[in-house]
Amino acid sequence: MHKEYQVLRNYLHEIWAQGIDVASAEIFFLSDFRIDLSEHPLHESMAKKLRNIDKSWHLSEYGNTSGDIFVREALTKLENARLETNLYSIDDVMLTLGATGAISMIYKGFLKRGARVLMIPPIYYVFAGAAEQLGITVDMMNVARDNDFLPTIDAFEAALSSQDYDLVLITNPTYPIGRVYQPDLLFGILDCIAAYNRQRPCLAILDEVYAQMAFDLDKVHYGPHLADYDFLIRTNSMSKSLGTAGLRVGYFCAHPELCRRVHEGTGWRVMDFLNDLGDLEYGTPPPVFGPYIAAGCEFFGRVEADENSPEATFWRRNLARYWDKYQVAKAMIDDAGLDYIEPETAFSVMVELRGARTPEDQFEIFKRLLAAKRVYALPGALYRMPDDAQPAMVRVSFGQPEAMLREGLTRALDFWLK
Ligand SMILES: Cc1ncc(COP(=O)(O)O)c(C=O)c1O
Repeated sequence: MHKEYQVLRNYLHEIWAQGIDVASAEIFFLSDFRIDLSEHPLHESMAKKLRNIDKSWHLSEYGNTSGDIFVREALTKLENARLETNLYSIDDVMLTLGATGAISMIYKGFLKRGARVLMIPPIYYVFAGAAEQLGITVDMMNVARDNDFLPTIDAFEAALSSQDYDLVLITNPTYPIGRVYQPDLLFGILDCIAAYNRQRPCLAILDEVYAQMAFDLDKVHYGPHLADYDFLIRTNSMSKSLGTAGLRVGYFCAHPELCRRVHEGTGWRVMDFLNDLGDLEYGTPPPVFGPYIAAGCEFFGRVEADENSPEATFWRRNLARYWDKYQVAKAMIDDAGLDYIEPETAFSVMVELRGARTPEDQFEIFKRLLAAKRVYALPGALYRMPDDAQPAMVRVSFGQPEAMLREGLTRALDFWLK
């Protein structure tokens, strides 16, 4: 599987290297996470901060490399509000270059070459490749269609106890499938890792970048109990929730106990320790975005605190627009008679890819669809779905303008059904 995955990655790079002009080449990015900001606008409080960048002193000053204090304070406040706790202090929260930067720092800071990681697939594919390139072994547990490709606690426990693991990666809501873990499932899995920790230290990353986009936000409120797990690092990002992937703004919150252990072992405050690993590729976002991030935290804080606030109303409208576009895609997929998994968060739906028995078949269909119809639709294998998972699935995103969604999906369905 590893080999095929690299083949696809190389193929994608070839496409980009040809310098294809997306607009003139008329490629329909059915799997792209580009979000149409005219359909899903930024709240004015944040948009204003972005417009004001060139007027602020932030442009000409160096900021703190692990994120300016006022930004970390804003993130701390938001994450404490989300968990209804006072767990985090600014020493436990770090601003990173996307959630990708957060994961990269965690690998480099907490794991050694030869470490072993258990991942619950599917995942954001970069996270497996990044670990493998650092000499870390990655195992994927098995998940199946009859459970919406969610893990079961028993299967997870069996997978975890089969090897010596140093870290577990959990993605909730799942991606790109978009299901939300019920509290019993999430806490069941974390309890397994807690029990495992009594024999052997094992960290867990909880990748929550799709949480703010859950159609029912109550479902992603797990309460203060989530703060009890001292091996847990939660990663998040503004790429999806605010449709600003280009700004590369992410962060993570590590349990204070974890930070204390790093401090004892190294003499470094954890955030400076991680920063000074010299992660040049995936460091921290430019401090110039600080006021925007703080405004974003304030916005989501209001959404969390008061469902009748103008911010909550604004956000519900934004999510409803995604839901409408999902309905457009769903009607077309229903008409075609294909299997799909109803997402509980924006902004993609996984659809059956008929005729693909193996990952190689999936990649072949991807290539042929692109050549024949100029539609770019990434297969489940890229996201490390199990090799033998049936049915094979393909990602359809609905963050783009509705007209493009319709045209891209019409072309793709026409091809897939033949
Ligand atoms: C599940 C998941 N986690 C993390 C990321 C990384 O996000 P960022 O843009 O913040 O690096 C992505 C990006 O696609 C993702 O889909």
